Amino acid sequence: MQDWYKEWFGKEYLAVYPHRDTKLAKSEVDFICKSLGLSESDFVLDLACGAGRHLYHLHQSKIKAVGGDLSEALLLDLSEKTPDLSSWVLRYDMRFLPFKENCFDAVLSLFTSFGYFQSDTEHLSVLKAVRSVLKRGGRFFFDFLNANKTIRNLVAHSVKTIGDLKIDEFRNFDQNTKRINKKISIEQNGNTKEFNESVRAYTLNEIEPMLKQASFKINHLFGDYLGNSYSEDSDRLIIIAEGI
Ligand SMILES: C[S@@+](CC[C@H](N)C(=O)[O-])C[C@H]1O[C@@H](n2cnc3c(N)ncnc32)[C@H](O)[C@@H]1O
Repeated sequence: MQDWYKEWFGKEYLAVYPHRDTKLAKSEVDFICKSLGLSESDFVLDLACGAGRHLYHLHQSKIKAVGGDLSEALLLDLSEKTPDLSSWVLRYDMRFLPFKENCFDAVLSLFTSFGYFQSDTEHLSVLKAVRSVLKRGGRFFFDFLNANKTIRNLVAHSVKTIGDLKIDEFRNFDQNTKRINKKISIEQNGNTKEFNESVRAYTLNEIEPMLKQASFKINHLFGDYLGNSYSEDSDRLIIIAEGI
């Protein structure tokens, strides 16, 4: 359970979320470019790029962007589907970024690619690693779930079918660990595989001091990719922070 993210973001994740929101990724990238004021001279890191759906559109928008991820399967999928991007990605653990200090104008953490580790210290180390590769004044685009809303609306059990896959998802919020846990059970041809997801549901009040500790100040908050303000009822918690 502890290292669930090493198991789950593999070929089953791709099967359960085929082309996950690929179309949306273009409008999300348009919003990111606009809200960060990115130009062709900027150098950008997509911190956990997955199969590269945002990286692709960043390159289409002529933004020089590098992507990194821990998942070999997702990076392989990216290289097979978009061979031109394969020289722009590398495999790493986001706590230990293999870049020189102060080299990026912006870093993006998209679609809840945070909160996976066991302790606040490890999560803080991600924020510190991001800060160290960002130039002073560089921007961090942090797109996370809106914890309280997600917890309020948590569906304990749902079932869906994709092709010949039957997928059962069981969800709960653990008050003690403040984590949203999900068990994903995938049945195919009579065989069942199980995976876990467990995300520390940080609220804005919790994440703000961590960003401060990592030498960021918050410049803007949004509640979605349409540019609406953040509120308790927003779909997302999107923070634009600046390295100070
Ligand atoms: C929810 S997915 C989002 C992927 C991508 N940003 C997107 O929007 O499609 C989270 C991503 O974080 C990656 N990841 C998980 N743990 C990681 C780690 N320790 N270091 C780097 N990447 C990690 C996963 O492999 C996965 O691609």
